[in-house]
Amino acid sequence: MIIAIDGPAASGKGTLARRLAAHFGYSHLDTGLTYRAVAAALLARGLPLGDEEIAIAVARNLDLARLDRDMLSSHEIGEAASRIAVLQGLRDELVALQRNFARHEPGAVLDGRDIGTVVCPQAPVKLYVTAKPEVRARRRTDELLSKGKDADYGEILADLKRRDQRDSNRSVAPLKPAEDAHLLDTSEMDIETAFRAAVDIVDKVQ
Ligand code: C5P
Repeated sequence: MIIAIDGPAASGKGTLARRLAAHFGYSHLDTGLTYRAVAAALLARGLPLGDEEIAIAVARNLDLARLDRDMLSSHEIGEAASRIAVLQGLRDELVALQRNFARHEPGAVLDGRDIGTVVCPQAPVKLYVTAKPEVRARRRTDELLSKGKDADYGEILADLKRRDQRDSNRSVAPLKPAEDAHLLDTSEMDIETAFRAAVDIVDKVQ
């Protein structure tokens, strides 16, 4: 079984993916972390973000088991990840790793921007999770504040909109729902309701 989950930043897709994986006993890969890990390595070594060969070399050394969102969560890394995500050769490298992960038994949940459209177009279950930008920015702000970090709602909203714009309008693997994806707008939904709706969808397929 493969559950493919796509959607924009802070839509709730990560939380949903983790909960579905725990519920069904599947492995989970947050594919955003693969882009973030490459971006973070380039930033840390002062290497250019636009050089595809270097980015590919870094991607070849990624260890999926060691990706950690807490270490990769900064705005700066998210922004750099979205900039390197336009490099086709880098995407090919990361997509190969992600497809390999999707073979986990008894199942895998992958979340990102292009899982249902490019990485696993054959996935039996595809969800496209979205919410209004203002709702997503509010959630991200509250999440950061609850961890004792600085957060400015206006800056976060502008940042999310800029990233959505770049992810949706790029020519390679743009963010968009697969034709056969179930749309889940969580603007007016809490995580429990979204989770139950998603479990119902998966149960119908199994
Ligand atoms: O999901 P997250 O915010 O961690 O992703 C960081 C960036 O990585 C996104 O803005 C997007 O540009 C890129 N990404 C992608 N394809 C994926 C996952 C993430 O292009 N499957």
